[in-house]
Amino acid sequence: MRIDILCLFPEMFVSPFNQSIVKRAKEQGLIDIMVYNIRDYTHDRHHTVDDYPYGGGPGMVLKPEPVFEAVAAVKQQLNINEIPIILLTPQGRLLNQRVARELALHSHLMLICGHYEGVDERVRSHLATDEISIGDYVLSSGELAAMVMVEAIVRFIPGVLGSPMSANSNSHSDRLLEYPQYTRPQVYRGWSVPAILLSGNHSEIACWRRHQAILRTANRRPDLIGKATLSDKEKEWISENLLNPK
Ligand code: ADE
Repeated sequence: MRIDILCLFPEMFVSPFNQSIVKRAKEQGLIDIMVYNIRDYTHDRHHTVDDYPYGGGPGMVLKPEPVFEAVAAVKQQLNINEIPIILLTPQGRLLNQRVARELALHSHLMLICGHYEGVDERVRSHLATDEISIGDYVLSSGELAAMVMVEAIVRFIPGVLGSPMSANSNSHSDRLLEYPQYTRPQVYRGWSVPAILLSGNHSEIACWRRHQAILRTANRRPDLIGKATLSDKEKEWISENLLNPK
């Protein structure tokens, strides 16, 4: 997959994209990420990227010209026409595992990081093909949102994670939170690892983990439990155990 990122602070990507999973995916040739500075697509002496909002009001608005020009230049350089162009904005559809998995199916994505108090509406209506928010809060930088999104997407690209199951077995992939995990030592400060995990009985362990994931989701994220796919037996189990939590 190739990802082209258009932004105002390209240096912000250097460290996060040179660590851990994203770094490994780049080294393995599974992803190719290019970062461009929108400021390089201005033509005035001051390299102006923002201006006052028409109609008044606080803050500055990202101008349309450098954004349209940057997109056109990257498209021309790559000799491509049709490509998803995603604007990172708190007004976009919310990023979750389903959206990340869906975006990972594309072979090429272009991301535009919004900035300041806003982006000229014409970028939204005539350039972007999609708008994504990483959560219901406002960041001053679309760059951070782009990093989060890239990390979430890259995990779904085949070969990026060690095990093919990993991306789908984590919290949220099946709309359930993850079950509790333990590692050595077996007893730490008097707190023991649940005996079932030491039993070697894989089917019982799987059953315990599934129940823990269901219980944890029902307690912490009641909004998710209604969307999870549960068997009738599991639903029955929840109603008994939520009333009498162990
Ligand atoms: N830019 C500023 N806040 C954002 C958010 N929550 N998601 C995506 N982009 C943003």
